[in-house]
Amino acid sequence: MESIVKKCDVLSCIQPSGVVHLGNYFGAIKNWVQLQDTHSCIFGIVDLHAMTEKHDPAELKKHTNQMMIDLITCGIDPQKSTLFVQSLVPEHVELSWILGTLASYGEVSRQAQFKDKSKRKKEEAVSVGLFSYPLLQAADILIYRAKEVPVGQDQKQHLELTRNIAERFNSRYGDFFPIPEPKYSETPKLMSLADPTKKMSKNIGSKHYIGLFETEKSVRKKVAAAMTDSGELKKGEMSPGIKTLFDMLGQTSQQSDYISLLNDHHNGNLKYQHLKEAVANALVELTTEMRQRRAEAEADISLINDSIREMSFHARKLAQETLYEVKQRVGIKNLSHF
Ligand code: TRP
Repeated sequence: MESIVKKCDVLSCIQPSGVVHLGNYFGAIKNWVQLQDTHSCIFGIVDLHAMTEKHDPAELKKHTNQMMIDLITCGIDPQKSTLFVQSLVPEHVELSWILGTLASYGEVSRQAQFKDKSKRKKEEAVSVGLFSYPLLQAADILIYRAKEVPVGQDQKQHLELTRNIAERFNSRYGDFFPIPEPKYSETPKLMSLADPTKKMSKNIGSKHYIGLFETEKSVRKKVAAAMTDSGELKKGEMSPGIKTLFDMLGQTSQQSDYISLLNDHHNGNLKYQHLKEAVANALVELTTEMRQRRAEAEADISLINDSIREMSFHARKLAQETLYEVKQRVGIKNLSHF
């Protein structure tokens, strides 16, 4: 089993949501790209997680294909890392069943994400898949015996659950899983420009996010329309809208603009218009480059398909090694050990 440990220092996954926005890019993907140079990484596109709420089959397929291209465009490099599609590694689901026998109904029903997503719906409309989502996530992590898991703060409870399940497995069946360490993103969580009290997200409408591949016209329009003031502010205080604009600018390559505008703010002479212009210019530079790179990647689509198929196959081999050992330990049959 030693081989697995060497092959996965870092694991993280993303849902094929249909659009990569700046929150995903600055908060997660950009960091993944950097980690590839120092760690052996496995990244996954978790399409099974994207069907826990009612979904359109054709859209899911399309979004999964898009996410493959998007991640390669952003710099996930098959020469350095493994990038797999979750449904191509069915062992995740098998492991999640076994993990589910170790988790209690109480601890799973206390997961805040489940509570949030289910409370707006009738009981009949809440799928068991939505409930067991965190068990599949635990399987994604444990099946590669990952050591570190870069995620956003919103995944804290899911990671805690994963660690508890791993500890329980180890104490019941003998030490096997490394206890995965969450690595929380250090970049500030990007908020919606149209409503800076909400997290940037695709689900709440197109004015609430900026896509990584969005056109110049659309980026400029959204930045121009961004909310700036919101009620009374004490001297030196920053409104949530202005903070969001600064947070965005701070993530781009325009660090000198960021510093000088932040100085203006501290000195009380920041012109919102200047901030918006700087943000729009910086984002247009980024999205224009990304759109070009994406077009190039798209031209190599069959290459991308081949390489993701191969990488998923590789991931599957690692997953099978883990599952084999898990099955031996819990006392269920392995075909190769009948
Ligand atoms: N739940 C994660 C999210 O919504 C996605 C995810 C699924 C994940 N499996 C994972 C993240 C394993 C890290 C590790 O962002």
